[in-house]
Amino acid sequence: MANAEVYADTVSTLTEIGASIAAQDELDKILANIAQKGGKGTQSPVVLIETWQANQSAKPMIRAAYGIGQTTITNLADFSPFCKKSYSEKNAVFIRDYYLETEGAVPSFARVQAIKTLVAFPMVWGDQTMGALYFFRAKKTPFSKEEKSFASVLAIQAAIAIQQTELILERQSGYTRTIKILADIMDRKDSYTHGHSFRVMEYALMITDRMGIGGRERQEIGDGGYLHDLGKINVDITILQKPGKLTPQEWERMILHPDVGAEIVSETGVLRELAPIIRHHHEMYAGGGYPDGLSRDQIPIGSRIVSVADAYEAMVSDRPYRKGMSPESAIQELRRHAGTQFDPEVVALFVELI
Ligand SMILES: [Fe+2]
Ligand SMILES: [Fe+2]
Repeated sequence: MANAEVYADTVSTLTEIGASIAAQDELDKILANIAQKGGKGTQSPVVLIETWQANQSAKPMIRAAYGIGQTTITNLADFSPFCKKSYSEKNAVFIRDYYLETEGAVPSFARVQAIKTLVAFPMVWGDQTMGALYFFRAKKTPFSKEEKSFASVLAIQAAIAIQQTELILERQSGYTRTIKILADIMDRKDSYTHGHSFRVMEYALMITDRMGIGGRERQEIGDGGYLHDLGKINVDITILQKPGKLTPQEWERMILHPDVGAEIVSETGVLRELAPIIRHHHEMYAGGGYPDGLSRDQIPIGSRIVSVADAYEAMVSDRPYRKGMSPESAIQELRRHAGTQFDPEVVALFVELI
């Protein structure tokens, strides 16, 4: 798998199509682009890209079309034995006279455009066949050598695009599942920490949006906010819920939580990018916080955001043994500690939002 990924990477950087393989919603665009290039590059009036699901029970479907509307045809493999053949044999199939060989069982678009020749290239990557590229031609002309190699490259690109999309999807679902599991563990341990974490995430995302941070970084800061106190699962519930001051021993245990949380997410693999945000959420802007005593820009921006969100949420929320502060007093506190405990820019943005 690792090798296939590396190779897939190399090939995609070599092509302009491959370069845009980034996300699932890109896939349809990429396939449409490949179909169009295929049509123009081989002078085929119609090119179709059909995909099969990894799940064999799912029906093949036309994912992209050039020369005709995609909706005019649902799939080819069902009625054309040649398409099935290219799929099962993993080889290109050339049909000089489509009408003759299919005994007239041709799709209506082929009839309208007087299609004669069909060339099917299976999209094979590794040991998987992900579908096929179909080139339809009006004349009974075989593909030239150049056209064949061009079409095979397109078929490989389509296969890579599909495979990379599947990998991204797999990773995303692993990511979401892992967050759910960890959130559930936090909730079982201490529902206060869980509820607190959820609201910290919401505040952190408000700040992130205001700062114009988007995409993956935005998600990491939100999820880092959500899991910032995950390490508290390692702290006794009696300590977590103690109304008074902690003893030095209890405090020692408590301040391990950013490190423990960061370690847990690192172990999961998929969430390891969140580790620095979690690890540094108790650093102080001017230095002197824990665990590493970092200051200013040394503290990840995600941690500086989560720190403000965390402090505000903790101040305004009610606990069984005390009532929460008013938002005004909490804002005052944030302002008072801007520049020492908190990043003053983050505080300034946050107090505008709240
Ligand atoms: Fe914390
Ligand atoms: Fe917290």
